[in-house]
Amino acid sequence: MNSITAFREQPSRRPGLAVLTTSGAKTGLPRESLLGYVELDGTGVVVASAGGAARNPDWFHNVRADPRVTVETGDRTYDAYAGISPPEERDRLFSRVVEVAPGYASYQEMTTRVIPVVVLHRLDRVKGMGDWLVEVHRWLRAELVSLRESGGGAPPSPPDLRAHCAGFCTALTRHHQGEDTVAFPMLADRFPSLADDLAKLTEQHATVARIQRELATIVDVTELDRLITELDAHFAEEERAVKTALNAIADAPPS
Ligand SMILES: [Fe+2]
Ligand SMILES: [Fe+2]
Repeated sequence: MNSITAFREQPSRRPGLAVLTTSGAKTGLPRESLLGYVELDGTGVVVASAGGAARNPDWFHNVRADPRVTVETGDRTYDAYAGISPPEERDRLFSRVVEVAPGYASYQEMTTRVIPVVVLHRLDRVKGMGDWLVEVHRWLRAELVSLRESGGGAPPSPPDLRAHCAGFCTALTRHHQGEDTVAFPMLADRFPSLADDLAKLTEQHATVARIQRELATIVDVTELDRLITELDAHFAEEERAVKTALNAIADAPPS
């Protein structure tokens, strides 16, 4: 009987251990690893110590390629997004893990690599940051539609459009700035597999900003229609790429 089977067959599985199921970075097939498991403030944390070996363990390469994991520990099994802690957070969490499981300090002494700490963000949050993002997008879309319809059937006149655009355009600019400076870097640090999507979304923000600037000197509604089309596509792509990851790492802000 291998160690994973033995762990699963215990009537009450030993706390301090977990089976982490990842997807193989090359094969995409499920891969199971029995790991030390620590809970800090109710959140599961695993350490890529590989017993102090010089190289990161395979499961760590797997979560870099795909953060979706399943965690079995105690009498619970849950789905999570495995986030790699950025340096400062890593040091703080590693110290706390060592307080509970001092063996990890010895593993760190055995290798020159900085042993990564991985946070297992549960996916069963009631309302997360990703859901909130979708709501903000919905509001921005509705504002844009009412801007388009502000002419009462006829296309709004350019002066009307410019007057109405002021509030909407400020809100949209602020929304994208928040994504570019806070949300996206936070995701990029933790989930390397999102890098390409985040780079593309950031480029789209630049495109939208350019269309917005053109709106300021608009002579007809063609530019507005182009903005609506671009934004619709951008919101949809962003929600597909980052909603789950955002839900995993944070609650929605209080409304
Ligand atoms: Fe965006
Ligand atoms: Fe957005």
